[in-house]
Amino acid sequence: MSQSKATVAFLCAIPLAMLSACSHASGEAGLVEKMSKLQYFLHKTGLAVKAENNKLAGFYVHELEETIEELEDFGQYKSHEIGKLVKEILLPDFEILEKQVKQGQPAAQWKAYNAFIKSCNSCHKSTGHGFIVIEHNGENPFPQSFQK
Ligand code: HEC
Repeated sequence: MSQSKATVAFLCAIPLAMLSACSHASGEAGLVEKMSKLQYFLHKTGLAVKAENNKLAGFYVHELEETIEELEDFGQYKSHEIGKLVKEILLPDFEILEKQVKQGQPAAQWKAYNAFIKSCNSCHKSTGHGFIVIEHNGENPFPQSFQK
């Protein structure tokens, strides 16, 4: 093959590779993005709860709720029914967290927040991702204050 023909063949292969990457994106990549979002809002919720800043914690709990609602409609990932697992494993602990952030004492809020983290890890175990271990991180890497 001449060099220019080889170049053309190479360039034509790129859009094909991109197409297959795009068709992949709707399924598995969609789930991992929502997981990152959960982790992000969980981190901010934890910082706000620790600072006993109810108003801010309430804001992030609401963001978590929206992400959880998206996940409830997610459908299947490999052999796992994501929506069903979210409703069974994550939602009950989320509802307790939501209630405690609205009206609970700091100790009860902290307990509910840690129980919620446990439910993340239960689902990771149930879906063969037990190696993804979520834990509280008290560092604040954000250009944001969490104090009330
Ligand atoms: C329905 C079960 C389920 C629940 C509930 C769940 N996860 Fe996941 N999580 C998964 C699966 C499955 C993957 C792997 C996705 C993939 O391979 O694309 C994953 C991957 C992740 C990742 C890796 C992606 C990244 O950005 O590093 C993080 C972080 C994560 N989850 C955080 C959380 C947090 C935080 C919670 C709780 C608030 C949570 N997950 C609740 C099933 C779940």
